Amino acid sequence: MELNELKTPSLVLDVERVRRNADRMAARVSRLGADLRPHVKTHKCVEVARLQTAGHRGGITVSTLAEARAFVAQGINDITYAVPVEPGKFDEAVEVARECERFALITDDASVPAPLGEAARSGGVTFDVFLKVDCGYHRCGVEPHLPEARAIPRLICDSPGLRFAGILTHAGHSYHARSREELLDIARHERDSMRDFAAVLRAEGLEVPVVSIGSTPTVTQVDHLEGVDEVRPGNYIFFDAFQAALGSCAFDDCALTVLAAVTHHDRTRRKIVLDAGAIALSKDRGAVEFDEACGYGRVLDLEGRDLGLRVESLSQEHGAVRVHDEKLFDSLRVGARVRVLANHSCLTAAQHSHYHVLESGRIVDRWEIHRGW
Ligand SMILES: Cc1ncc(COP(=O)(O)O)c(C=O)c1O
Repeated sequence: MELNELKTPSLVLDVERVRRNADRMAARVSRLGADLRPHVKTHKCVEVARLQTAGHRGGITVSTLAEARAFVAQGINDITYAVPVEPGKFDEAVEVARECERFALITDDASVPAPLGEAARSGGVTFDVFLKVDCGYHRCGVEPHLPEARAIPRLICDSPGLRFAGILTHAGHSYHARSREELLDIARHERDSMRDFAAVLRAEGLEVPVVSIGSTPTVTQVDHLEGVDEVRPGNYIFFDAFQAALGSCAFDDCALTVLAAVTHHDRTRRKIVLDAGAIALSKDRGAVEFDEACGYGRVLDLEGRDLGLRVESLSQEHGAVRVHDEKLFDSLRVGARVRVLANHSCLTAAQHSHYHVLESGRIVDRWEIHRGW
């Protein structure tokens, strides 16, 4: 099928770029001596995960139990669910663990290990459990200097049904770095603070099997990974306008776009409206902290060339773009098609049910997205 025969709005996935991004990250992580456990929250798609894990152990990271169920059903059975687990999810986690070779959970709360261990025991499974560590993002996790950081691993070890898996962190504050130097500092701190904390736990006689870190900006920038066992970048497989602005990739590495049609052509205001609004692109503001004019995405032509236009405002199904160039404005009449490179590919993909796979300029396949919880 030709690209311009697709319904709009539609997700278009450039599979050649996906393969290139997968190969580059796999080679980089191997060179740095760590395992790659990609975070599949970015794409929620089994075919993409297989491209990412080729040549590595095959383990993945998920952000929902729906992803865990979908991937395990396709035979991917070494999974870390990297959102802190709470009691309402214990039974479902037991169900997933029954189908897995290894199912790891994370916690940062001292009230969790005992009842989680009880759920595991009565369900006849064993969970690997990581301590979630806060390395500066302050979203969740325990800061290493707090007493809980040393107490929770002991509680995990003392709970039959649980195995202490190690320590895990995510430097999400890397997305707010204002310069390469600041980003590199965050990447080094993510690595070194975890290495040092593992040493403290080991000095107290605790076995720490895995030190797990990772975000796309930090793994892309970090200079070495000594003391780290595995990394969990996710976004790198598609990249997006935000990552390009952060310096994690070039614009030509971005693999995910939204095909959109012009639905309104306003000569008075020199504005067009696309049928890709907030529910097709997401309302993520991307690089707005250091590029006020970044809008909600870059407008590209069908071949993927940047037209120099931004989606400036969004409502649910409408995306407005101002077009100052006369010739360009004339070419973007009602019914014309463009592609939008959105700010944050993870949030864009999660709004859609499937990808249209683009290879050598044609749509060659359709891959499902496993959404929900
Ligand atoms: C716990 C955890 N690990 C890894 C990642 C992957 O980070 P990125 O999307 O920057 O690659 C995320 C993303 O939010 C995360 O929450």
